[in-house]
Amino acid sequence: MERKVEVNAARLTEQLDALARFSDAPAPAVTRVVYTGTDLKARAYLKTLVAEVGLSAREDALGNLFARWEGTEPALPAVATGSHIDAIPFAGRFDGTVGVLGGLEVLRALKASGFAPKRSLELIVFTAEEPTRFGVGCFGSRAMAGVLLPRALAELRGDDGLSVLEAAARAGFTGNPSDVRLGSGCYHAFVELHIEQGPRLEAAGVPIGVVSAVAAPATLHVTLTGAGGHAGAVLMPQRRDALLAGAEVARAVEAAALETGTPDSVATVGVFDVHPGAVNSIPSRVFMTVDVRDTDLRRRDGMVTRIRRDTEELARKRHVTADVKLLNADPPATCAADIMEAAHAAAEAEGLASRTLVSRAYHDTLFMARVCPVGMIFIPSKDGVSHCPDEYSSPDEIAQGVRVLARTLAALAG
Ligand code: GLV
Ligand code: MN
Ligand code: MN
Repeated sequence: MERKVEVNAARLTEQLDALARFSDAPAPAVTRVVYTGTDLKARAYLKTLVAEVGLSAREDALGNLFARWEGTEPALPAVATGSHIDAIPFAGRFDGTVGVLGGLEVLRALKASGFAPKRSLELIVFTAEEPTRFGVGCFGSRAMAGVLLPRALAELRGDDGLSVLEAAARAGFTGNPSDVRLGSGCYHAFVELHIEQGPRLEAAGVPIGVVSAVAAPATLHVTLTGAGGHAGAVLMPQRRDALLAGAEVARAVEAAALETGTPDSVATVGVFDVHPGAVNSIPSRVFMTVDVRDTDLRRRDGMVTRIRRDTEELARKRHVTADVKLLNADPPATCAADIMEAAHAAAEAEGLASRTLVSRAYHDTLFMARVCPVGMIFIPSKDGVSHCPDEYSSPDEIAQGVRVLARTLAALAG
């Protein structure tokens, strides 16, 4: 692409700030959970921006948003970019939003430059990359890829008892769930711009990361049930304390990751709910989430097997019952070599160093990889921090990522 593309970093910063104000947590934290009033207000704001850029928008039955700029050969499979705007409790303002607003800035800037793409260009705003409400990450792109079918969406429920489809309908998304799945061949390529969420680019002083693969995530839900009782009256030998069993399970989860012998194995207990949660009452039940990841599928599966086995053993030892549910166990995704090459070449054309790296976090790209060839462009995260309010990437770093995305998409769209 010879033409100069003007990326407006100040406008992008303003839009990121404006989006961050749609939050259920006090600033600088951002909480934006799928289908809440706050999420819907943020989507409405986004749709005004999409309309300003002159894109035609459609939403599917889950609220996945597709904003399209028709190419000169609209019958060809489109080139897509995008990410998510939902945010976990007490998150930062850049996870997902950089790929959404950055992707929109790319389309705006390419249009303004007079570029006329052969293939249509699309911005996709995926519903719920985060697992907060329904336990499973990426249910929007999972459904688009046919990994979650309408029947499963009708059964997957959050804490309030509503299923995904019921919650989507209440939020105003009333399309046909069977139409969410994308036909094969509808996209030529998908490229997601995202913050790294780790320290590697910053440590190396490299502004652009080109992702080669996305690590394989799995999620378990563990419920341990013991016996409650009076904290003064029930003597220690008689207790079946579910919290203490859960604490041992949490320790076993840590050991499963530590003992594979590679730093690529990680496992986390992020939710630990204690019932009944009273000062003077023995915990009778705990609910825990276990998030297990690795770049290597066999190692990840080995950890899952070990955590299941250890949980059963610890439950027997502590005289509690264990209910373990595997919610998802996804394979890793590999990025397409030609898209990686295009991204490296785009960085070079912008005078920016780039390096290849694996994504340890998951992204909607993990599921788009089942639909079409994929790529990801990372920008540095300050101190490698993410999923907390201190998350930060500078306006310059974001603008650099947007320029590299613009060149990459332009090259792919022809
Ligand atoms: C995505 O937010 C992840 O947990 O990797
Ligand atoms: Mn996230
Ligand atoms: Mn994300």
